[in-house]
Amino acid sequence: MAEQKHPFFSHATLERNVGWLIAATIFVVAIAGLVQIVPLFFQHSTTEPSPGIQPYSALRLAGRDIYQREGCVGCHSQQIRTLRSEVERYGPYSVAGESVYDHPFLWGSKRTGPDLARVGGRYSDAWHQVHLNNPRSVVPESNMPSYPWLAANKADKETIQAHMQALRKLGVPYSDDDINNASKELENKTEADALIAYLQGLGINRRYMKIDEINSN
Ligand code: HEC
Repeated sequence: MAEQKHPFFSHATLERNVGWLIAATIFVVAIAGLVQIVPLFFQHSTTEPSPGIQPYSALRLAGRDIYQREGCVGCHSQQIRTLRSEVERYGPYSVAGESVYDHPFLWGSKRTGPDLARVGGRYSDAWHQVHLNNPRSVVPESNMPSYPWLAANKADKETIQAHMQALRKLGVPYSDDDINNASKELENKTEADALIAYLQGLGINRRYMKIDEINSN
């Protein structure tokens, strides 16, 4: 059967030539991606801190490093979805403005343990000390690993200033004073102290909000 003639700018060109099909697909997907993603860089609700969100203090930042090092994010998410079951269990759902000082984000995607986005203030510091040392001494059925070395290790005050300077380059508004005093803030603190300070600050900005305040922020 003879090939039918067709104009170049027609579906037939794409359907019969896999090279053009791939190029056209990449082109269309790229535009769709840009339309979705680029506006987020300019939207205030995604680029400015939510009410009550402050840059991490030196101690909390050191704790956040330990949270990353120990892989807590592998079992704990930090993002409460807008579903009723989640909001009732954990508290007000998460918004982008709560994460503007997070480099990298620790939203996670796996929940072997509960979401931690609003765990701040839920337990005492002493509870956390005991729980990190051996979770089964407070929650007998827990399968969370023990982290006994955290209470024995000193928090790392050598690298914290460089870390804060790097974050400042990324737009976190640390003052010179914040950076100069950082090592002092970690003096005589253990890794567990730092991690607990981090946990105790998580989500307290929105924890006690009423539903219409949530919707307007
Ligand atoms: C292997 C998975 C796993 C890892 C890794 C893990 N956890 Fe957990 N975590 C759990 C489970 C399961 C629970 C629920 C039982 C319990 O409270 O121990 C839990 C509970 C918690 C709770 C109490 C939350 C609440 O709302 O009751 C905190 C806080 C916590 N984990 C912090 C951490 C930190 C910090 C790390 C890293 C140092 C960590 N977890 C690592 C599994 C894990």
